[in-house]
Amino acid sequence: MTLPLTPAMRQYVEIKSRYRDCILFFRMGDFYEMFFEDALRASRLLDIALTSRDKESNIPMCGVPHHARNAYLSKLIRQGCKVAICEQIEEPGQKGIFRREVSEVVTPGLVFSEECLDARGNNFLAAVRFVAPFACAALDATTGEFFHEACDTEEALADALFRIAPAEFVALEGEGNPTTSRGKRLLEGKLLTLLSPSAVAAFPAPPGIEGIPSADHPSWGVVRAALYYLFLHQPAALSEIGRVAEREGRRYLAMDETAVRTLEIFSTLSGERKGSLLWAVDRTRTPMGARMLRAWLAAPLQDVERIGERHDAVGELLEAHAIRKSLSTPFDAMGDLSRLASRLAQDRSGPRDVTALRDHLEGISAIKTALGEPYAKRLQSVKGLLGDHAAVVDRISSALADPPPPGYREGGVFRPGYDAQVDELTRLLTHGKEMLAEMEVRERQRTGIGGLKVGYNRVFGYYIEVTRAHIDKVPADYIRKQTLANAERFITPELKEFEGRVLRAQEGRAAREEELFLALRDSLKEILPAVYAAAGGIGELDVLLSFAELAAENGYGRPQVNGGREILIENGRHPVVEKILGKHAFVPNDCRLSPDGTRLAVLTGPNMAGKSTYIRQAALIVLLAHAGSFVPADRAEIGLVDRIFTRIGASDDLSRGESTFMVEMRETARILDGVTDRTLVVLDEVGRGTSTYDGLSIAWAVAEHLHDSPSRPKVLFATHFHELTDIVSTCANARNFHVAVREWQGEIIFLRRIDEGSASKSYGIQVARLAGLPASVVERARDILKNLESAEYNEDGLPTLAGARAAGGSANAQMELFSRRARKDEDAVLEQVRRCEPERLSPLDALMRLAEWKGRLEKGAT
Ligand SMILES: Nc1ncnc2c1ncn2[C@@H]1O[C@H](COP(=O)(O)OP(=O)(O)OP(=O)(O)O)[C@@H](O)[C@H]1O
Ligand SMILES: [Mg+2]
Repeated sequence: MTLPLTPAMRQYVEIKSRYRDCILFFRMGDFYEMFFEDALRASRLLDIALTSRDKESNIPMCGVPHHARNAYLSKLIRQGCKVAICEQIEEPGQKGIFRREVSEVVTPGLVFSEECLDARGNNFLAAVRFVAPFACAALDATTGEFFHEACDTEEALADALFRIAPAEFVALEGEGNPTTSRGKRLLEGKLLTLLSPSAVAAFPAPPGIEGIPSADHPSWGVVRAALYYLFLHQPAALSEIGRVAEREGRRYLAMDETAVRTLEIFSTLSGERKGSLLWAVDRTRTPMGARMLRAWLAAPLQDVERIGERHDAVGELLEAHAIRKSLSTPFDAMGDLSRLASRLAQDRSGPRDVTALRDHLEGISAIKTALGEPYAKRLQSVKGLLGDHAAVVDRISSALADPPPPGYREGGVFRPGYDAQVDELTRLLTHGKEMLAEMEVRERQRTGIGGLKVGYNRVFGYYIEVTRAHIDKVPADYIRKQTLANAERFITPELKEFEGRVLRAQEGRAAREEELFLALRDSLKEILPAVYAAAGGIGELDVLLSFAELAAENGYGRPQVNGGREILIENGRHPVVEKILGKHAFVPNDCRLSPDGTRLAVLTGPNMAGKSTYIRQAALIVLLAHAGSFVPADRAEIGLVDRIFTRIGASDDLSRGESTFMVEMRETARILDGVTDRTLVVLDEVGRGTSTYDGLSIAWAVAEHLHDSPSRPKVLFATHFHELTDIVSTCANARNFHVAVREWQGEIIFLRRIDEGSASKSYGIQVARLAGLPASVVERARDILKNLESAEYNEDGLPTLAGARAAGGSANAQMELFSRRARKDEDAVLEQVRRCEPERLSPLDALMRLAEWKGRLEKGAT
């Protein structure tokens, strides 16, 4: 049985039918109400009470107060919902219900209220194409940033998306299904909307947007999908999109997701900002700068000239101490110019947004003055971008009151003298106050009631209030209006007439001010391109300044990025570890890699010695240099790097649903076929995730492959596999290094110094003891170690690991531990056997050959 719905509910159902995939916030009085499935879902997600509307039909319902809308909205958005906001538009008509309309649809990627946004990060909507040719487009509607990128593989697409960190995804139907587990993981928990390809194709790309790719470009569909989605949900925001830029992967130093994660660039492996590279180097003071720094680190340049230009700018600011100081005040006061501009573009700004815009534009002129006449090319270009906003600052200042009210319908928005009509109405209203005061005096005299008051109340309007004690003195022309506990309130014809005039004047002024404000706001749109340019300039200057501050504070030096292929770092430090330990506690180290010198550096040393720190520090210095920053080193000469590959640690990544070893091998495979002569490879304990011999064999083979690769990449390889140090005997460009330690009274002292040669032993047991492993366990470990060291392998080539306990236990047949030298000898002997022709040999010759071969084989096996 279905009960007939009330008119309001019929209206609800009709509107909801057009926004099926959204939660509908249905405004009813002071609340946004939700019904049916929406109510069930929202009450759960928001943790609010579920009630029911209309007891009989029992419609589930829940609601949130309108003034707290944004807080609830942001909660839903963060959980991946879309919300359609339906407002009451007009007073009830004949049918007795309000006309209602959806005013906007808010989605995770298209959200504008500050509560829902991270001021220092972007909020990207990503349009993706998970079929070849792969592509994505990223749009931040709060700042107007928009770019697209074509990718060769789904892996590359996943890497690009990982760096973008979109809040929401859209795709054309049929293009939204990733096939790799990484692709799938990216979409997990995120809203993905599929759009009809025909609808997107039919959507006319808005005119005036520069850079829209042509129909044969892989990004054609994703760029249009992003715009179409914006048009569907926030059409006003389309007007602020001026251009879409193409991002070409090859113009940036490439880092895949693993590199970004394991180098802990934006967050630590445990997911915190503190302890990341960004945390250690960020000295930006504006939201634009914070977002831009993140973007620069995510996509370091691969262009010697442009990198040098950034370094020039940082160098100039570093030396100009006074300029840095005088820039700091206006920078600290600078707000989010980009987001203010985008509010203006979308007709969302109120009077206070406009005065804030003015204040920031005024701040820009202070910044320009402080900057003076810079030499560096980037600084000059930034200065050009900042522009001159004096005229518009004057225009706003001469129009708006200071500070204006938050809304433009409340009156008092404009300064006296701006508009004659507003002034006239204001005079009337202020004059009205005087009239009321006069009336009060007059009525007191007339009635003889000393305590008589003229007052105003929002519900009842103007009144004359008389306390109960004097009620008998009230004249006949007073009309009773309201009774209070201790007083009565009256109205008189004169007061009634006055009330009408005041109300008309108030309404008239509000209407006039609204009209004026909207006109002002509209006229300000012409400055938007200049404001966006200035916001970009401020962001860039902020990052350059941040690099200079960083360098000044920590003694960073200017790196030279050149067209060569060598990496030379003198007294390099790890930016994050140094920040945590303090400058004096950190021991600097050198690093030299080159295709013709050391291209494979094998680093051994005890646990906790600093191997991982050292190899990461080299990668981070390279990255910072390419991003335009100075680096924690006395000297750094870096041949342009095209890619940093990492394979660090064997941390289990259960969230990926793959075993440690699989992940490791997959990533290693990607490294092996992705290197060039400009690639830096950082390997930390590759092979650790499986049994010792398998692991060692793989580590060896990987190191050898990279060393022998005709691409000649530069490789830093930290390992606990001591046997790997033998690789230098067969790989001409491999060199051993170790972290120096000293033993003193049974303790080890970490010197943190990287020296040539391999480490003498692994010291793992000492470290275990320091870490508090029980003495008995430590002792047992020492025994086993002795066993191992005296006879590492038995006759069958199996490990004697179990020592005294081995009796009865059979070791698994491990992959044979190989020595390349031995293998080479064997091969040579075999070759000789194959070639020799016994029928031509004398018996003596044959015997001698046999003795020689046997000798060689025996020698090779040791
Ligand atoms: N150059 C250095 N100067 C001062 N302290 C350092 C330096 N390098 C590393 N350390 C300190 O040593 C700690 C351990 O370093 P790291 O993790 O690099 O060691 P490791 O050799 O990789 O150890 P494991 O073999 O256990 O992985 C760091 O957390 C840091 O506190
Ligand atoms: Mg380590």
